[in-house]
Amino acid sequence: MSTNEKLSLLVCGGAGYIGSHMARMIAEAGHQVTVFDNLSTGHSEALKWGRFIKGDLRNPEDIERAFDGSSYDAVFHFSALIVVSESVEKPFDYYDNNVTGTMNLLQAMRRHSVNSFVFSSTAAVYGDPVMDMISEEHPLAPLNPYGRSKLFIEQILQDYATAYGLNSVRFRYFNAAGAHPDGTIGEAHNPETHLIPNILLSSIDQGRRLKIFGQDYPTPDGTCVRDYIHIQDLCSAHLAAVDYMSRNNGTHCFNLGNGQGFSILEVIDAASEVIGRKIQYDFEPARAGDSPRLVADSSRALKELGWKPAYADLREIIETAYRWHKSPAY
Ligand code: UFG
Repeated sequence: MSTNEKLSLLVCGGAGYIGSHMARMIAEAGHQVTVFDNLSTGHSEALKWGRFIKGDLRNPEDIERAFDGSSYDAVFHFSALIVVSESVEKPFDYYDNNVTGTMNLLQAMRRHSVNSFVFSSTAAVYGDPVMDMISEEHPLAPLNPYGRSKLFIEQILQDYATAYGLNSVRFRYFNAAGAHPDGTIGEAHNPETHLIPNILLSSIDQGRRLKIFGQDYPTPDGTCVRDYIHIQDLCSAHLAAVDYMSRNNGTHCFNLGNGQGFSILEVIDAASEVIGRKIQYDFEPARAGDSPRLVADSSRALKELGWKPAYADLREIIETAYRWHKSPAY
């Protein structure tokens, strides 16, 4: 199996932010794509590529409909609840969706002998950083149920590789950002909790002031530092993972980030330059479960996957997001 051949790929969560960009990239690379999504947080307007099956991973019968009569070369799994603070308040929802849902999906894969899985994990599995640049060897100590839900699945994938020979790539995303450069699909969460969209929305809707959560973190300016990686770069790594699994059995994990940390105030400055206007903000208490600094050492993905991010400049990433947010299609 290689991306030089025409593949059939299942994208769970393909109506969401990362999943819709992935479905598009798969289709544009000439492969066949099937999207499975319950549309709880995804958007039907983003379903422009491939076949769509509406269903919920918590219902095994729904998943069976996606597998029945189809044969997939690999499964990409983007369906998850992702809001750190919400996971602290609603742990059942997070474990039910993110853990039980994934277990059901893996069962269906076993039943239908689909043996390649790309899992969206997160930098939140690391918790408080004990090194400046976080490599995959960093201790795993998630600070919240969201991070734990992802780590549990990572551990399950290790057991499945040993017992059932399931091949998988686990991607630990740092902060996904930006939108497709043509501005027709982008990031649209409701409510929006992510920094870059909230900065842009506050500049577009002048009545909406940006809140900065926490100003006393142990960072140079007291605000949290993150590593922003463009959505198209995240997606290109997933296609590389399919090739990688055809050459390497077992389970493998890779960080996906740019390797550059930006504080919230630095992101605001970069966004002001892109927009050509100052951003008004207020400081609020820190959010529960936030880590002060998450910056990736992605050298393993660069070397082993032959992955090369195309968007290294934060301003360029914000520009693509701004293009989308000025006139979002949904
Ligand atoms: N922030 C604000 N104001 C906002 C939104 C965010 O100050 O309106 C702050 C947050 O407190 C945090 C930083 O900006 O310090 C980045 O916040 P995001 O919500 O954009 O991203 P997170 O780093 O919290 O979370 C993202 C993904 C998670 C993932 C995590 C791992 O959304 O799924 O990265 O790094 F777990």
